[in-house]
Amino acid sequence: MKNRITEILGTEYPLVLGAMRRITLGEMAAAVSNSGGFGQIGASGVSGDQLRKEIKIAGELTNRPFGINIPIYRRNAFEALEIAIEMGIKTITTSAGNPAKITERTKGAGLKVLHKVSTVKMALKSQDAGVDGVIATGYEAGGHVGREGISTLCLVPQLVEALEIPVVASGGIGDARGLVAALALGAEGVEVGTLFLATRECPTPDFFKQAIIDARDNATILLGKGAMPMRVLRNKKAEAISDPDKEREDAKLNAEADGSYVRPDGEADNAIMPAGQVASLIREIRGVSEIFPDMIKEAKTLSSRLNSLFKEVD
Ligand SMILES: Cc1cc2nc3c(=O)[nH]c(=O)nc-3n(C[C@H](O)[C@H](O)[C@H](O)COP(=O)(O)O)c2cc1C
Repeated sequence: MKNRITEILGTEYPLVLGAMRRITLGEMAAAVSNSGGFGQIGASGVSGDQLRKEIKIAGELTNRPFGINIPIYRRNAFEALEIAIEMGIKTITTSAGNPAKITERTKGAGLKVLHKVSTVKMALKSQDAGVDGVIATGYEAGGHVGREGISTLCLVPQLVEALEIPVVASGGIGDARGLVAALALGAEGVEVGTLFLATRECPTPDFFKQAIIDARDNATILLGKGAMPMRVLRNKKAEAISDPDKEREDAKLNAEADGSYVRPDGEADNAIMPAGQVASLIREIRGVSEIFPDMIKEAKTLSSRLNSLFKEVD
């Protein structure tokens, strides 16, 4: 497959592993890249030397391109950017912050940037700042989402109409149906997070994986609505701290979430488990390297079924 996103990423498929703090590290990134997609290491949860180590691990496991994700508002953002450049990363994704703060450096270093956005205004600003593409993150996504509550289905086509640069759809994509739908909306690629939580290699405890498998339509809840909302699986802990009149500060929520979902001695009732609405479509634990190739294969069948359906129309 070839389009502007595969060109930016240097990959076979325009499919991106959504960075997940303390989960998508070197091994997972490499496995996704080896399967034809774009693997990424979440740079926010690791220190400078740890980040170098994870990039090195990925580099030893794949000779295909992979990237890192840098939340711009985090204190270690500039250090992570310098490490990416120093270690030969060619494309990064950025989130949570103004990409104009880094574009002079990224352009100077020849680094490509896909920036995560949740509104048309943010996307236009990012395009003006000089990013190479945007990742349109809808409200149904796992982890932090935009405050405005715009779904992937409505956000993507508006961005495609408004922008010159390519759009990657993110949030709610869990199989070939989501991929084909996103492409129909005009996206040139997709980013997938929650689905990778339900993989054998995912370094989260079994109770988290089981909670994904058990999830049904009403399985997620939004915390921190006042500032930086975070979509998590509904459990006793999430219900207890969700209070629309008294939302906790971001820092406290982030600190509480941090680690609670990767701690092996944690419990399903007491951990904060970021995940998207798409958890309700996930029925089994699979291998990381199966996810994207299967999605492409099934999308091929699905799109030819759609094609033949429309052939009957004059
Ligand atoms: C557990 C978890 C941690 C995440 N951590 C980050 C992060 O550190 N940086 C970031 O930009 N996005 C983060 N995300 C968002 C994902 O990268 C991705 O955009 C999102 O999962 C896509 O929506 P989906 O979950 O419906 O596939 C996280 C998501 C989850 C579920």
